Amino acid sequence: MTKPTFYITTPLYYPSDNLHIGHAYCTLICDAIARYKRMTGFDVMYLTGTDEHGQKIQQVAEKNGTTPKAYVDNIVAGIKELWTLLDISYDRFIRTTDDYHEAAVQQIFQRLYDQGDIYKGAYEGWYCTPDESFWTESQLKNGKCPDCGREVVLTKEECYFFKLSKYQDRLIEYIETHPEFIQPPSRKNEMLNNFLKPGLEDLCVSRTTFDWGVRVPFDDKHVIYVWIDALSNYITAMRYGQADHADFDKYWPADLHLVGKEIIRFHTIIWPIMLMALDQPLPKQVYGHGWWTSEGQKMGKSLGNVVDPVVYADKYGVDALRYFLLREMPFGSDGDFSHKRFIERINSDLANDLGNLLSRTVSMVQKYYGGTLPADAVNADIAAFAASVADTYSAQMEGFNVPNAMAECWKLVSRANKFIDETQPWVLGRDDSKTTELQTVLRTLCACLKAVGVMVQPFIPAAADKLLAQLGLTTAQVDWQCVSHLSADDGFTVVMGEALFPRIDVKTDVSPLTLTKEVAQPAAPTAKVYDDLPEIAIDDFAKCDLRVAEVLSCEPVPKSDKLLLLQLDVGSEKRQVVSGIAKFYKPDELVGKRVLLVKNLKPAKLRGVESQGMILCAETGDDNVRIVEAPAGMTPGAKVR
Ligand code: MSP
Repeated sequence: MTKPTFYITTPLYYPSDNLHIGHAYCTLICDAIARYKRMTGFDVMYLTGTDEHGQKIQQVAEKNGTTPKAYVDNIVAGIKELWTLLDISYDRFIRTTDDYHEAAVQQIFQRLYDQGDIYKGAYEGWYCTPDESFWTESQLKNGKCPDCGREVVLTKEECYFFKLSKYQDRLIEYIETHPEFIQPPSRKNEMLNNFLKPGLEDLCVSRTTFDWGVRVPFDDKHVIYVWIDALSNYITAMRYGQADHADFDKYWPADLHLVGKEIIRFHTIIWPIMLMALDQPLPKQVYGHGWWTSEGQKMGKSLGNVVDPVVYADKYGVDALRYFLLREMPFGSDGDFSHKRFIERINSDLANDLGNLLSRTVSMVQKYYGGTLPADAVNADIAAFAASVADTYSAQMEGFNVPNAMAECWKLVSRANKFIDETQPWVLGRDDSKTTELQTVLRTLCACLKAVGVMVQPFIPAAADKLLAQLGLTTAQVDWQCVSHLSADDGFTVVMGEALFPRIDVKTDVSPLTLTKEVAQPAAPTAKVYDDLPEIAIDDFAKCDLRVAEVLSCEPVPKSDKLLLLQLDVGSEKRQVVSGIAKFYKPDELVGKRVLLVKNLKPAKLRGVESQGMILCAETGDDNVRIVEAPAGMTPGAKVR
């Protein structure tokens, strides 16, 4: 019998050596869904890849003194390694520099041109290079890109336009009659009200001011706009329009495009219109997920708070990281990566709840029955509870709500732990007349763990295998059926193994800073970061409230060899500031000095100590750092501008 198909995609990642947990998140959610679908009998196609053309890549390669192709080749190898490390079970990886893709994109462009959907004109408007997106004057927010807040450049060039306007009404009707198409519903309303209903302008779909892209087939002065190139991947990867198009026939339309919320606009306006123009069905659903912040702040290279998945996976294990990323953020909403929260979740959900349930159960089966339990009855109430958990779990997974499905699964873990407390097997074990009862309790626990072992496979696959191995089972011996049906036929021969998730010591493992690749330091920015900063307007500088402040006292921050805590007099008020200058000053040296304070910097906690601002420092060029002192005669509180 042929299996039903399920086609799921991540966005294509811009090659960057700075992929962080935000990028890993989308890939992980898709991975969990793909694994669940395979487990429940689907023929899954999980596609991911890289978006390698465009002005931004060309600029970065030039800056690195290399060619765009050499630059992307190197980075893409690293991205594939990251996905291997994170146990991502993708089926196909597309690069937009692959020959077959480039040829197919040209073919698509040619067809749209031939049928009159693409025409030549001239573009004048704004362009956000980091996002590779066009904006009209009225769409800008304070003169900046409304999506990412970065600088936009005025662009005036000959280009080809794609007639989005022609398809606008058809798309509005489609979205309104297919409520499942854009999810969550808030994103649907945003697309309809902010973009579609006000009216679509035709889209500039070629560029002439750089050449790193797919050439327009009939006009080689132009390269195809990178979003047209990139969006096409979802069909070119299945060999749309090519001789070997069997996969396209089999898998298209995709069941789910999972993308971050800021790129849902491209996926629910430009992409469906391209498909309408090509006379192809639309993907069944585009889901816009939320964004990760880091310790409450937007993640960014210049802020030094980028959470590197490799660092966390190396230190705590891949499954601990997978678990946290999949479980912590409500699906569709934003979430915060807090180191403290990470440790709490790993310790409570994985080490305590799941890990202890397994080790207690296995050790009791060994202690009371030498490791082997014959097949017989299981507790009926627990079996009924497990069946209802399985139903809700699968309903959540069918709706792609991975964190809710995980929460369901942990209900069974908690119920099983409670069942141990209720039945007190150690008391039953002292009474020979209770041996049947004790066996039923332990068999029920093993059956619950077996069901949990199956349900957690999509999320923490390596740990799921280890868990099942301790129950004497291999992944091949279990299937989805045993989740909803804790079978009386099950006997178990357990094998004691290592703790599934070792507890993390909360006392020693407190600082997120040591775990990020780029360490956020409250000292002055390094020359390298400084070089990278874009130009700012005078208004931006005016947002900084700089003041003279006198150091009243200074002491080291406990358990830190980098930080000093300074108490400051800022004229009308006192402030405390944590500064990363312990290597450069003894606390006494600073007392009485008049320093420059960024007074309105958002307070932050460093090693648990609140810092209410930042003092300015300068690098001396020989790895030394000096505070910037106020000129003589200035009083605390004086404005610096
Ligand atoms: N290349 C385009 C996508 C083209 S798809 C045809 C692109 N690439 S990206 O590398 O910038 O982003 C890839 C994905 O990572 C996006 O879905 C984006 O939302 C996601 N994330 C990047 N930072 C993120 C967070 N901080 N949190 C969650 N996801 C975020 O856009």
